[in-house]
Amino acid sequence: MAALARTNSLPNSLSMNDEAEESAFARDVLKGLGARRKNLPPKYFYDGAGSQLFERITEQPEYYPTRCEMRILQDNAAAIAKLIPAGAALVEFGSGSNKKARILLTAAPVLAAYVPVDISAEMLEQEAEALQRDFPRLTIRPVAADFTQSFELPDEAKAAPLRVGFFPGSTIGNFEPHEAAAFLRNAAKILGPNATLIVGADLIKPAEFLNAAYNDAAGVTAKFNLNLLVRMNRELGGTFKLGTFEHHAFYNRERHRIEMHLASLKRQKVKVAGECFDFRAGETIHTENSYKYSVESLGALARGVGWLPAGVWMDAKKYFSIQAFTLAPDAPALRP
Ligand code: SAH
Ligand code: AVI
Repeated sequence: MAALARTNSLPNSLSMNDEAEESAFARDVLKGLGARRKNLPPKYFYDGAGSQLFERITEQPEYYPTRCEMRILQDNAAAIAKLIPAGAALVEFGSGSNKKARILLTAAPVLAAYVPVDISAEMLEQEAEALQRDFPRLTIRPVAADFTQSFELPDEAKAAPLRVGFFPGSTIGNFEPHEAAAFLRNAAKILGPNATLIVGADLIKPAEFLNAAYNDAAGVTAKFNLNLLVRMNRELGGTFKLGTFEHHAFYNRERHRIEMHLASLKRQKVKVAGECFDFRAGETIHTENSYKYSVESLGALARGVGWLPAGVWMDAKKYFSIQAFTLAPDAPALRP
């Protein structure tokens, strides 16, 4: 496998078409704000500023998930890396700052390629360059893509004997459960036969910890949420006045999810993407759900689409889990 280890120059990432991306944003905003309960897909949080704000969230004392997951990875790196055979390609969905992949890459054998996939193209490029400096012999092939859609893997990953998916950060929790199942099916299709998938999932816990994590005292999560309005103003000619909307985040116990909203502080009209929308005082735009799982509930969801349990690691307080799955040979996603 030593032949796979070579010094690399990083190619430009495979990327989405800018115009198509913009019109998808306009279409989703018109659909979401036109709905009876106004909503927006959370993937639009991650423009350049949003990605930086997310990184700042991970440093807040109340936001435990990142620290917990890093700790689990550090404490179990060797065992988790055993799931990644020499010569495999490691595909990370929603790679952000790559900091969790770095732990796996340090413990893993020589890989055919590391493929970070992210919708935030700017951050993807920057982080891939920084990673290349620190791992000069690693073949890194970034892909700027929306992982809810189908996308092509780079040739090095397609040619590898098998592919291992890595989906940390509890980003799976930002999907509705049916969307999470669709993502797992899509990941099975992309990764192909004999694949393994390593997923980080935040666990159900008392509401006080959850509410604090999404209402940090420094107001960084509020800024992250409000940045959606800044983005709509800049990219879609929006007229949102920032001071007239407020960040709301709370744990919905029945549905095991944190809900984030932007609440209008007064009755007002706002123009965006060429249309005008009325807001009642107190009316909200539902911007994100962050579902919390149990090991069993995520396992059941994964099993339903052909992923079989292959390992679970948790921190001492059982706040966060890393769960591994292998693809059943008869998984529906593998059928032609
Ligand atoms: N994996 C990192 C980052 C988590 S934040 C960590 O664990 O810290 C979620 C990441 O997923 C962001 O980098 C964001 O840009 C990316 N993301 C969110 N929705 C996406 C989508 N639909 N397609 C691709 N990337 C997405
Ligand atoms: C990326 N995702 C899992 C984060 C979460 O916790 O749901 C995004 C986030 N939203 C608010 N704070 C962090």
